[in-house]
Amino acid sequence: MKPVKVGICGLGTVGGGTFNVLTRNAQEIARRAGRSIEIKAIASRRHNPACDTSAYTLQKDVIALARDPEIDIIVELIGGYEVAKELVMTAIENGKHVVTANKALIAVHGNEIFAAAAKKNVVVAFEASVAGGIPIIKAIREGLAANRINWLAGIINGTGNFIMTEMREKGRAFADVLVEAQALGYAEADPTFDVEGIDAAHKLTILASIAYGIPLQFSKAYTEGISKVTPDDVQYAEELGYRIKHLGISRHTDKGIELRVHPTLIPKSSLLASVNGVMNAVMVSGDAVGQTLYYGPGAGAEPTASAVVSDLIDVARMLDATAESRVPPLAFQSSELSETPV
Ligand code: HSE
Repeated sequence: MKPVKVGICGLGTVGGGTFNVLTRNAQEIARRAGRSIEIKAIASRRHNPACDTSAYTLQKDVIALARDPEIDIIVELIGGYEVAKELVMTAIENGKHVVTANKALIAVHGNEIFAAAAKKNVVVAFEASVAGGIPIIKAIREGLAANRINWLAGIINGTGNFIMTEMREKGRAFADVLVEAQALGYAEADPTFDVEGIDAAHKLTILASIAYGIPLQFSKAYTEGISKVTPDDVQYAEELGYRIKHLGISRHTDKGIELRVHPTLIPKSSLLASVNGVMNAVMVSGDAVGQTLYYGPGAGAEPTASAVVSDLIDVARMLDATAESRVPPLAFQSSELSETPV
């Protein structure tokens, strides 16, 4: 089958990881996708020393890739809102499928993006936008498709969990651990997104949309971060048999669907209490299956690249399918959106 050609936009932590996974595992990926996935072009402001991109001339203009007639799929890994939105919308207008890890973009502009994608019969895939390497979007949308989702709750920011774990286990200072999380490539470009709960709220907004079939409404999420949690809070919680975890929680209430992100006291004996470091975990309760738990690395180059490349494989598999027969849709179906978070 004809190879699929991708344009990688952004060669930072996740872009570099994606390049390395795509090149290192090219044979397995081709076997699973049913065709080879070729990197046609890379747009990035700078080289990534973790990648051997000597076979490529890095381009500066990401939008040019979205217009390149030889590219089938745009991989948006530049992050942020404005340029990323222009890139994704231009790609869609030009009939290209999109794979993105950008939770801020999806949570804030996703309704508009998916509507545009539906008109053009292209797919926007975003598995990497939530919980790094954990295939949580596929798990909810495909694995739990038979269920009415009752609630979901999880640790969905690796940086925050890493900071809280190091504070508790090693008595380290908040600011020191944050600097290390940045050096390890866990934190957002603006780390206040991690420590003030904004990143977790982006992810919760996306999960709730998939779980309940509601529009993306990031502005409705109650958002509180970990910046006010002190070492004394952590210590007292321990003494009382609890652990403080920064959770994203979404559930049905009498008034509608609730979205909230905040530090939470949970018993030390609970499964989520033992999720440490950069690991994430999401519990999902469905009416048929009962409680389920998904655990894995929530940030970092290759764990996130694992999800990006898995989306690329999905899109490559369905390239020759008609729009109607593409199963299951990787984008939300805007016509199914109904309930409103409170
Ligand atoms: N900054 C994010 C986190 C990256 O720490 O979870 C992965 O989304």
